[in-house]
Amino acid sequence: MTVIGVLDSGVGGLSVLREIHAQHPQLSTLYFADQAHLPYGPREPAQVRGFVKQITRFLLDRGAQGIVIPCHTACAAGLHSLRDLHPDLPIVGLEPAVKPAAIATQTGVIGVLTTEATAKSSMYASLIERFAQGVQVMTTPAPELVLLAEAGAPDTDASRARVAAHIEPMLAAGADQIVLACTHFPFLTPLLRPLIAGRAVLVDPSSAVARQVGRVMLRSSQLPGGSAPFRQYYTTGDAERFSALAAHWMGDTVRAEHIPPLP
Ligand code: DGL
Repeated sequence: MTVIGVLDSGVGGLSVLREIHAQHPQLSTLYFADQAHLPYGPREPAQVRGFVKQITRFLLDRGAQGIVIPCHTACAAGLHSLRDLHPDLPIVGLEPAVKPAAIATQTGVIGVLTTEATAKSSMYASLIERFAQGVQVMTTPAPELVLLAEAGAPDTDASRARVAAHIEPMLAAGADQIVLACTHFPFLTPLLRPLIAGRAVLVDPSSAVARQVGRVMLRSSQLPGGSAPFRQYYTTGDAERFSALAAHWMGDTVRAEHIPPLP
């Protein structure tokens, strides 16, 4: 495996992509941000499923040999159907990290910061039923925080107030684990840390997903040869804005290509 495609509704998936680059620098990556359709969270699952299918086709046409979907909302809506459609394609998806949080909690209360679509999904209901028996789960959809991350998560009083409004009720109920169940939220960590310090920990799945990418995509028989890896970015939104934010968060030069929204 040399080239993997990574898709997300926006800049959020970069939180996982930077872990993939850190852990597997030999992989070439194609990153697709579907910013014209962002946010995915309030959309119907069937529509998101359609986006996932089209973007995967796009990435495969540009040489992706495996697909990573770090976007929780896209996975809840489209992971199963994508696997059915491409039974031989290596695909890495994820679920909200409810299980590790339910194991680690000392108070018996966990908070899950997520999107509306993920919160309403049957995948989420099944996770709670399987792994959070006897644990109080406070599910908090936070579409506003997705937009805050898209705006670069500026460290302002207004940002801090918005983040606090979502986090404080969970902390007040005794949550000692805050699951970041949306790729956009790790970018809010600098705003979250002062609020949760000494009271709760953040559960961020990014690094575990990158490890799974290594297990699935880098089987020894498929280890890439000596050619230098490339990193390509596409957005259906504003390529300049995306590039500036991605460069800041990835610590790399980014020149994203604009792609018209896929039907
Ligand atoms: N980043 C996405 C996720 O991980 C969805 C954000 C959105 O577009 O609503 O769930």
